Amino acid sequence: MCGIIGYLGYREVYPILINGLKKLEYRGYDSSGISIFYKNGYSLFKTKGKVNDLEKKIDFLKKKNKLNGTVGIGHTRWATHGEPNDVNAHPHVSNSNNIVMIHNGIIENYHSIKIFLLKNGFTFNSKTDTEVLVNLIEYIKYENNLSLEEAVRISLNETIGAYSIAILEKSNPETIIIAKLGSPLIIGIGKEEFFIASDPIPFINYTKNVIYMKDGEMAILKKNKELDLRKIINNHKLHPIIKKLKINLEEIEKGEYKHFMLKEIYEQPKTILDTLRGRLLISNEIIYINGIKSNKEKFINATSIIIVACGTSWHAGLIGEYLLEKYTRIPVEVEYASEFIYRNPILSKKDIVIVISQSGETADTLSALKLAKKRGVFVFGICNVVGSSIARNVNAGVYIHAGPEIGVASTKAFTSQITILTLIALKIAKYKSTIDNFFYKKICKELSLIPEKISHIINNHNSIKNISNKLYYINNFIYLGRGINFPVALEGALKLKEISYIHAEGLPAAEMKHGPMALIDENIPVIVIALIKSNCYKKILNNIQEIKARKGKIIALINEEDVQVQMLADYVIKIPNTVEELSPLITAIPLQLLAYQIASLRGKNIDQPRNLAKSVTVE
Ligand code: AGP
Ligand code: GLU
Repeated sequence: MCGIIGYLGYREVYPILINGLKKLEYRGYDSSGISIFYKNGYSLFKTKGKVNDLEKKIDFLKKKNKLNGTVGIGHTRWATHGEPNDVNAHPHVSNSNNIVMIHNGIIENYHSIKIFLLKNGFTFNSKTDTEVLVNLIEYIKYENNLSLEEAVRISLNETIGAYSIAILEKSNPETIIIAKLGSPLIIGIGKEEFFIASDPIPFINYTKNVIYMKDGEMAILKKNKELDLRKIINNHKLHPIIKKLKINLEEIEKGEYKHFMLKEIYEQPKTILDTLRGRLLISNEIIYINGIKSNKEKFINATSIIIVACGTSWHAGLIGEYLLEKYTRIPVEVEYASEFIYRNPILSKKDIVIVISQSGETADTLSALKLAKKRGVFVFGICNVVGSSIARNVNAGVYIHAGPEIGVASTKAFTSQITILTLIALKIAKYKSTIDNFFYKKICKELSLIPEKISHIINNHNSIKNISNKLYYINNFIYLGRGINFPVALEGALKLKEISYIHAEGLPAAEMKHGPMALIDENIPVIVIALIKSNCYKKILNNIQEIKARKGKIIALINEEDVQVQMLADYVIKIPNTVEELSPLITAIPLQLLAYQIASLRGKNIDQPRNLAKSVTVE
């Protein structure tokens, strides 16, 4: 989720805000805005598009608006609720126009709060969850005659979700209140000045003295006053720990990561939680996806589901096919978008087309969507970028909330797409009563445990580094999987191909004897996904023995308790156990890390591989 910047001190704030927003652009965003406070009021500018567009808008308006102030806040938005446009951009203002706020994150229970506020006479200009929060703060402040900081604190205790916020009120232009839960927020401490930002880049040239806000903390920043750090839950005063920054600009952009791809691989425990947030209510095993709920009959009565996508999203679709057919018993086809549009597909009005796209701008997938709609077929979208072309053209859809994915090689979007497809399959199966309640609860519970299992892999992957050191110079790899892990073999091969330029091929393990076995000799590493709980485990064992008999080199992904494959394989990568249907969320991670390590050893440009684009907007 995107960028926050704020300043309170003696310098002219406008250049600090604008230049700070430019330094936050690398995080990916779709709109931006600033607000500058002065003695008896504030100015506020915001727009869809780039920070340059914001600057142009301000330049145009400059004559009519004051820009001279030494207190202000700024925001780059990565939309989650409400498409990217001028109205949904931040800052957001309360109904009285007295309170101005910027927010990074997701307010899960914004809908129920909005209903309450509407009943109490509030109105809303935007579709954002943020505007709901700023008005809840206003309501609590004026209903109880409280200070802004107390109203913020009480409101946040009523809020479910993730946030980093900065908020000011017109009558108190020299006080900024900030709060953090789940989204990053850092305070820069200068001499008689405070900076706030999502990361230190915007202010590192002014000060290297920082306070990393912790979850559940808020702070009141007042001109020429000590910082007042509090716990949101009980208002207890805290003693701030000031750290001296030692890293340089380049390092901060990617955090401690060498590449955005590695950062995004490591983010997956959090991004899967963000995908599940507000959708899997584990306490009562309820799955809530509005786009499915409001089209319940269509999904219940669907004669078939056609999933259309490209690349990694197509691999996610293949996993969706297994899940949807297993749980809902609706026939599913998965099509490459580029093939679908040119083969005059047979579609009926009772079919459903699901389009999957991280960027929401892939031309082939957009064309497929339009073809299906032209045929009168209901189209459901699974996208990451809010307000993207595909998201705006589907009949209904759901956002995966994986946050900006900067690396060309898709990683966190893939696991978030699978997570959403799992929820959709379970939800429809529940509607159709094609899944027994015990099994449904078991899957829901296991799904909630996936993030910590991924963390386990990420924190214990020396075996992957060792294997990479031994194999990185080899120019041909084979990836094998069976059942729901066959698409993961395809995805693992694609990851290696696109960032290390090695030829890699994914296959169903049993297909080897129908031709590809001819490739096998001692120079070919074969990555095999061999999970002990798989109903094909014994068959996979046979496949491995067939390859070993021809001197093939086996690298096996196995569960901790596996012994048989471990005895056969040349190398093993041990992964935590889970139910077979959720195993792609686990098996994908070591294959992402393997591709990353090998490409890194080969010195490739991992975030921008040659010949590739993050979003293929041409057919
Ligand atoms: C995956 O690592 C590649 N970047 C590529 O295959 C990508 O998945 C494909 O272009 C589809 O992109 P989309 O999900 O944005 O539609
Ligand atoms: N959920 C808020 C919105 O959609 C904030 C998104 C962000 O983190 O930029 O406007």
